[in-house]
Amino acid sequence: MARVTTSYVCGACGAHSPGPLGRCPRCGAWGTVTAAAPEAAPRGPAAAAPATAMRLGDVTDLGVARLPSGLDEVDRVLGGGWVAGAAVLLAGEPGIGKSTLLLQLADAAARAGRRAVVVCGEESPGQVKLRAVRLGVADAVEVLRSTDAYAIADFLATEAPALAIIDSIQTLTVEDGAAPGSLTQVRDATALLSQAAKSSGSTLVLIGHVTKQGAIAGPKVVEHIVDATLALESAAGFRVLRGIKNRFGPAGEVGVFEMTDAGLRPVANPSDAFLAERPVGVPGSVVVAALEGQRPLLVEVQALASASPFATPRRVVQGLDPRRVDLLLAVLERRADLPLAGLDVFVNVAGGLRLTDTGADLAVATAVASAVTNRPLAAGTAVFGEVGLAGELRSVAQGVRRTAEAVRAGHRDVVGPRGGGDAPTWRAVGDLAAAFAALWGRP
Ligand code: TYD
Ligand code: MG
Repeated sequence: MARVTTSYVCGACGAHSPGPLGRCPRCGAWGTVTAAAPEAAPRGPAAAAPATAMRLGDVTDLGVARLPSGLDEVDRVLGGGWVAGAAVLLAGEPGIGKSTLLLQLADAAARAGRRAVVVCGEESPGQVKLRAVRLGVADAVEVLRSTDAYAIADFLATEAPALAIIDSIQTLTVEDGAAPGSLTQVRDATALLSQAAKSSGSTLVLIGHVTKQGAIAGPKVVEHIVDATLALESAAGFRVLRGIKNRFGPAGEVGVFEMTDAGLRPVANPSDAFLAERPVGVPGSVVVAALEGQRPLLVEVQALASASPFATPRRVVQGLDPRRVDLLLAVLERRADLPLAGLDVFVNVAGGLRLTDTGADLAVATAVASAVTNRPLAAGTAVFGEVGLAGELRSVAQGVRRTAEAVRAGHRDVVGPRGGGDAPTWRAVGDLAAAFAALWGRP
């Protein structure tokens, strides 16, 4: 395989580097590393090769070779599998299961006859082995103990493993004696390694730690360098893998896993899992048929209202956009005559899940109305739909699939705007008042 091409050079000291670094690793100067001038003498305009454009229909080289990762839930988030030469960032809080998941994926690659290397800067090969034994990982998976980004880049370029996992970017340095984990080290090391992966055709997966406080430099500074960013989060006792950015496939897809003593296990029916502990017949609890990426998921939205001791009542929102909830509360007051003045209102998505789907509007409005009027919903009811400022219900994407998922999970009554299909369990309504009448009968 080709060595790393030294196509960047420091204007201050002349040091070559294989990537566009912010700071020269040799002399320490900032912003001096630029693309090296071509060897040949500058050419005149006449020498330029004519630039030709191509019809999209004639483009045949898609440049995307996909390899299944071995876990369907991961393939779903990646958009079909690993892409050769791509750099993928896996971000998450310490202890969430990033090393575990990637070791399982290294195992799958090795079992498929591909070379998988775990570069461990964080743990010793012995520690990686201990975990591997517990997970039953194939012996063919290789480990490389290094934190030197140049050495690793060189390894990628010469050995070209199919899958290279860096655990973690916060341990890498590009500069001798520099503190690992600093902004520049993390960014420059990532640039260097993704360049090397591109030239070798390896899929590069970088683990990046994030903390709730965001204290550790990391994922944010490299998001624009990598081709895809995945986040591993904890929700409702499960691990949710979410595509944040994806140059080769859909963003916003989710995969759901459960941490077991044999590693992360895909959850076949996340809706059932998320609703497992839902209280039935309690006011303020509503099931929404939400959409995460392209995947319909049933999630519980909860609301609580109580007389406020404050002049300005509190609005506490978890798992939803607070401004969206404010808007819905205003619509409820003005269009559904719900008396909210003087009430503290708490709205929560159960299990610590986050919803960005406007299809959750009707569930939020219904949960608040249910809490304020102290009327529970009948068991087996699910809702979805966007609510407009006039109190009208607006249709949302994938209504038919949302309804189908609700029915699959045992809901006999699904209420929402037009576009829910023709299932007998489906009831289309035009506005909030009609939705509430459908759910509770006319007052
Ligand atoms: P880990 O993958 O080390 O997290 P990260 O790399 O994101 O910091 O794993 C985190 C936790 O998972 C750890 O506390 C132990 C637990 N775990 C299991 O429950 N089962 C297992 O099979 C493994 C390997 C880990
Ligand atoms: Mg780890």
